[in-house]
Amino acid sequence: MSFDHLLPSSDIATKSGRVAVLMGGTSAEREVSLTSGSFVLKALVDAGVDAFKVDVQKNVLDQLGSLKADRVINMLHGRGGEDGEVQAILDVLKIPYTGSGVKASSVTMDKLMTKRLLLGSQINTPEFMQLKTLEDCLKAIKAIGLPLIIKPVNEGSSIGMSKAEKADELEAAFLLASRYGTVMAEQWVTGSEYTVAWLEDTVLPAIKLETPHVFYDYDAKYKANDTRYICPCGLDEKQLKKLNDIVTKTIDVCGMRHWGRVDLMLNQQGDFQVIEANTIPGMTDHSLVPMAAKQAGLSFQQLVLKLIELTLKPEVADV
Ligand SMILES: Nc1ncnc2c1ncn2[C@@H]1O[C@H](COP(=O)(O)OP(=O)(O)OP(=O)(O)O)[C@@H](O)[C@H]1O
Ligand SMILES: [Mg+2]
Repeated sequence: MSFDHLLPSSDIATKSGRVAVLMGGTSAEREVSLTSGSFVLKALVDAGVDAFKVDVQKNVLDQLGSLKADRVINMLHGRGGEDGEVQAILDVLKIPYTGSGVKASSVTMDKLMTKRLLLGSQINTPEFMQLKTLEDCLKAIKAIGLPLIIKPVNEGSSIGMSKAEKADELEAAFLLASRYGTVMAEQWVTGSEYTVAWLEDTVLPAIKLETPHVFYDYDAKYKANDTRYICPCGLDEKQLKKLNDIVTKTIDVCGMRHWGRVDLMLNQQGDFQVIEANTIPGMTDHSLVPMAAKQAGLSFQQLVLKLIELTLKPEVADV
């Protein structure tokens, strides 16, 4: 893995023009996005790029419509920013932006749609069911069995998720997830968890995640100091190839662009199961994509400049 083809930062600073860093937004991940955006902005300014902050609010259409920028770095996590909405506005305005286009963004923000797409392409993903009513919980137990993990379909950062080991835990889990819209139940996978970041056509080193929590929840992601990030992840060459092939196929099937992160688990049968794909992963100094990039020899600043570089290329149609 090498990134010798990186443009010098002075070249990027000259070519990029004015860069708007979109952050904040109105999703449940607003705070994380403000942190990601601030780190990215600092890296750009330090590299001499003419970059500025845009704290995206409800009036996003007006804000983007009056944007005086040559390109956009989109650091909006979650609904509104990662789901195709902002991408559609920027497409209409003909402002180049980092990350996936409308279609891939909207599909991957929706865990049900993502899983249907994966299954259609013979990519393993845990069994699942949409839960429309509380009664559906019992159907999920019958169809999938316990334990289950109950999730909002369109959320990130583990918000609104819980594990249900027993039938009587399902009601609370369902009600919690329902606060964030559509809900799904997924088969609980017992096994190791991996996350794989990718940048352009390179799959970055996988990270193995270990937490003493029941799962990698919001607290384990952003607050706890007992979460372990293992990179290199300890898989042998054959397993790593399998993992990377699944990630490459997932990127392709979902139609993602520029960069992202795929979350997977290794089940007891030794099969990788794709949990989900993220098109605008966290970019704080503790986040997973910068961690994987560092392992591949790319500093945080080089990673951010690479994202800008990707927006300098002519647009590929239909992304
Ligand atoms: N089927 C499963 N079995 C066991 N644990 C799971 C399963 N699905 C998710 N988890 C755990 O819950 C965590 C969050 O799940 P998931 O990645 O689906 O949610 P998310 O909120 O979209 O996350 P992100 O912050 O990566 O966007 C995973 O990192 C994993 O620890
Ligand atoms: Mg995840």
